[in-house]
Amino acid sequence: MIREEDIQKAAEYIRGGRLVAFPTETVYGLGANALDSIAVARIFELKQRPSFDPLIVHIASVDEIYSLISSNDERILKLAEKFWPGPLTIVLPKSTRIPDIVTSGLPTVGIRIPHHPIALALIKQAQVPIAAPSANRFGKVSPTTAQHVRKHLPGVDFILDGGKTQVGIESTIIKLNDKGFDILRNGVITREEIEKVVPYAPETRDSKTIIASGMMLSHYSPDKPIFILSDKLKLEKEKAGLISYTGKHTEGYKKVIRVSQNGDLLEYAANLFAAIHQLEESDVEFIVAEPVAEVGIGMAIMDRLKKAAYRYQKEQQENN
Ligand code: TXA
Ligand code: MG
Repeated sequence: MIREEDIQKAAEYIRGGRLVAFPTETVYGLGANALDSIAVARIFELKQRPSFDPLIVHIASVDEIYSLISSNDERILKLAEKFWPGPLTIVLPKSTRIPDIVTSGLPTVGIRIPHHPIALALIKQAQVPIAAPSANRFGKVSPTTAQHVRKHLPGVDFILDGGKTQVGIESTIIKLNDKGFDILRNGVITREEIEKVVPYAPETRDSKTIIASGMMLSHYSPDKPIFILSDKLKLEKEKAGLISYTGKHTEGYKKVIRVSQNGDLLEYAANLFAAIHQLEESDVEFIVAEPVAEVGIGMAIMDRLKKAAYRYQKEQQENN
């Protein structure tokens, strides 16, 4: 249980330029005062995150956004009303108040209001916006418990332990343009839901400007090989851990983790990273995950699985 003193201490740490890991509804974040370049630099250092990968800024109420952005686009309020607090990050033109290190020199900043009482209490008490990436070493699987944070980042100054996060995968990231919105990273808030508020208007992208981890081919990469289950995959089941969604064909595996009891994609999302962490720590040699159809929330799940499996799938193809 989190006590009031813990939040207070964490808020003081943030104000003092130190780092605090805290739960959000998606995954744990590694937070620092977004207005303090040196504190933000510590995030990059502790995470071993390349400086080209910008951070999301977390606020506690919509009015705080206007000093951080240089836009009074009316669509922001419409989106905020529908989706905030919640797992949606909106990329907007930044104001000069946001240090360049936060946005990796980009003229835009990603902002969201998290839907978690501890995160909101922390931001309110710190009285500053909090820049926070997921609290894992760069490129690794995001943490959904405080234990996962300790495993990846033993050097973090303070962790607010709020138990397991509910959503389990990172926020949907969208960018507004003249015609509507583009999706930079899929999450449990789907394109279809956002389209009810703003039209979908994907942009053509210059491949040289990878601006979101959502766009990298390899990411969320566990320390053990992970593969997406398919007929083509030749594997020694007795050495593998299976992440099972349907509960079908589970026989022969060394370990099986059921991520959903009744075929609920939200449950798969909520339990996916925890299942990977658990199998990473177990005695299986590799991990196999059951795919789902790439629609709605299935897009976000398959995005994480494909990126996690990317380098291993590639190695396998090269060896064959
Ligand atoms: O659910 C979440 O979004 C979690 C929690 C802690 O809020 N945070 C998270 O942060 O997933 P991170 O840093 O692991 O991923 C944020 C992604 C980065 O890949 C970054 O490239 C992208 O957001 N991003 C941030 N600012 C951006 C910007 N101005 N333009 C494009 N992409 C941006
Ligand atoms: Mg991350």
